[in-house]
Amino acid sequence: MQVDVALVPAELPYCPEVSVGVVIDVLRASSTITTALSNGASLVATFAEVEEARGWGAEAEGRLLGGERGALPIEGFCFGNSPLEYTKERVTGRQIGITTTNGTRAVELTLRQARTVLMASLLNIQAIVDYCRGAKDILLVCAGTEGRFSLEDAYCAGMILDRLGEIKTTDSARLVQGIYGQHREREPQQVLMQTVHGGRLLQLGFAKDVEYCGKVDLCPVVPLWDRGERAFVAVSGQDGEK
Ligand code: MLT
Repeated sequence: MQVDVALVPAELPYCPEVSVGVVIDVLRASSTITTALSNGASLVATFAEVEEARGWGAEAEGRLLGGERGALPIEGFCFGNSPLEYTKERVTGRQIGITTTNGTRAVELTLRQARTVLMASLLNIQAIVDYCRGAKDILLVCAGTEGRFSLEDAYCAGMILDRLGEIKTTDSARLVQGIYGQHREREPQQVLMQTVHGGRLLQLGFAKDVEYCGKVDLCPVVPLWDRGERAFVAVSGQDGEK
């Protein structure tokens, strides 16, 4: 197995096509989508733009919209981008549409590069690793923040590589392995709080989100892009590439 890493989405057009692309936006899009599916949402459609999400929401009864701009909720949407809002009571059996500044845009770009697209966070890391075990080649895509590198995404990518074990790596994969190695002995929640985007979320009053996003393996579900539905659906790690 070969594992490559795009440290920011702008690298994607230069990365070779792969069988599995894994989008990582720990704070908070991947954590939110993982939580919504783990709590029983029937699917989570993702959109790069607010107006696209609104259009999808208006196409059928009962669809719920969520997401953020500048980390804050979008006017008229049911949910913000706080994973804690996506409770069983609110999402079970519902179709959710989400648009975020970085994470859902990274999904759009990754769909051009990979046959299978998944979303990873610390919440579902082992399920992702189990799913990926039989894959020929994997590209981990760090969503970053407004085009720039984010430590929390690289840290999560490094943790995935650590758990995959014996693999062929690229230079960027070796870099994230080093980043994870530097922080291995620390509490994941502390690592997240000391990142730039973590600090911004703390300032905005989202400390509980940052704490929650650091809970490793809390939601053992794999968000898998369904090309027919044009949305993520939940599968398990055991359903993975053989
Ligand atoms: C994003 O996708 O841009 C992030 O999830 C931002 C946020 O923390 O809401």
